[in-house]
Amino acid sequence: MITANDAEHARLRRLAGPAFLNAGIKEVEPTVQHYVDLLCSQLTEASSEGSQNMVEWFLWSLNDVIGQLALDQEFECLTKRRMHPWPEYLLDVLKQTALINQFRRFGISLKMFAPFMSQEMINARDNFLNTASNAVKARLAREDEEDFSTEKKRPDIVGLLLREMRNSERLSEAEITSNSILIVGGGAETTSTCLSGTFYHLLKTPRVMQKLKDEIRRTFASSEEITLQAVGKMDYLKATIDEALRIFPVASYITPRITPKGGHVIAGEVIPAETYVSMGQWYMGRSEKLFNDPLEFKPERWLDTADSADRVGPNGMTPDESLRPFSLGPRNCVGKLLALAEARLVTAKLLWHFDMELDGGHDAWIEGARFYILWQLKPLMVKLKPVAR
Ligand code: HEM
Repeated sequence: MITANDAEHARLRRLAGPAFLNAGIKEVEPTVQHYVDLLCSQLTEASSEGSQNMVEWFLWSLNDVIGQLALDQEFECLTKRRMHPWPEYLLDVLKQTALINQFRRFGISLKMFAPFMSQEMINARDNFLNTASNAVKARLAREDEEDFSTEKKRPDIVGLLLREMRNSERLSEAEITSNSILIVGGGAETTSTCLSGTFYHLLKTPRVMQKLKDEIRRTFASSEEITLQAVGKMDYLKATIDEALRIFPVASYITPRITPKGGHVIAGEVIPAETYVSMGQWYMGRSEKLFNDPLEFKPERWLDTADSADRVGPNGMTPDESLRPFSLGPRNCVGKLLALAEARLVTAKLLWHFDMELDGGHDAWIEGARFYILWQLKPLMVKLKPVAR
């Protein structure tokens, strides 16, 4: 999808879109809930073993969720406390991909790199592609066996995608495989990074942590009451995730676009033809031109009720007018609603179940993070104390 030309892309989005809209998300709630509950029970056990690296726990959880959601497969990351080889490979190659992307800007294609690939790299790539295409084949085979005239429908995204398809527009197996790879890659590392960024800033900002914990614990009498619908109504929780995406944007740098023949007017400025343009969300989110006290983690700036000193930046714009963490236009993030729903649910349930404290200052955690299409993060070591009720 992400590399398709405009016409193909529009067709893929038309087919994929409904699977990600509200109806689809409601259908996937039991899966998301299952893994968030598993995360909480596993962490209750692990908390007695000492501080835990939350970067890993978020990656494991979101990878388990996306394995089920995308392909109806059990990745077993939380129970085995390890990454699944498929998403692990994707994370490993991001650095090389980021480098290759820079060469592509100067007309040096991927094929030209082939002679420089070691046998080890070729084997790892082939192994990954075989695993991915076998997983998709197995999922498609099950689909053919199921009777779709009945209610017996699987709630995973490939299942929802298949359900939305018209016969004449049916996606090919190759299209489903490559888009499943994109969804598994784009659907887990992104949201887990958003959660690591959220918890780092919460743990570094006790005032916000306390306010959010109070809101969550006052609203819910039991963990079962914490549903996707309920967390979607919690203003301070939503503002906290939005603020985390401002100060530590998952897509720090949005894939560049090239201006068309004749140039293009962007934000009132004429940009010449064939120019690479992008949105640097990292710099925008931390800009003193756009935000008051940009380095302060302050969810209040996202609330309608906040006074204008918090809400409106020096340029007279509110944060949602200045930033687009999920990009915009026809190629914006198709998983936005799902990502926000997951991030809010995980945050609410963790803060309902645990009191948390950073183990060590982690003063270089932000500086130590590296961005290669997605973030590679340093460990985030947290002491967890289950709340006695
Ligand atoms: C906090 C979490 C997330 C953030 C910040 C995020 C951000 C983005 C951004 C900025 C883009 C546009 C890239 C571009 O301009 O080329 C994008 C595209 C995409 N995202 Fe996300 N994403 C997140 C989570 C997810 C999830 C959970 C899924 C799927 C389950 C997903 C699936 C996709 C797909 C398939 C595309 C390509 C869309 C297209 O080309 O039409 N993302 N995402």
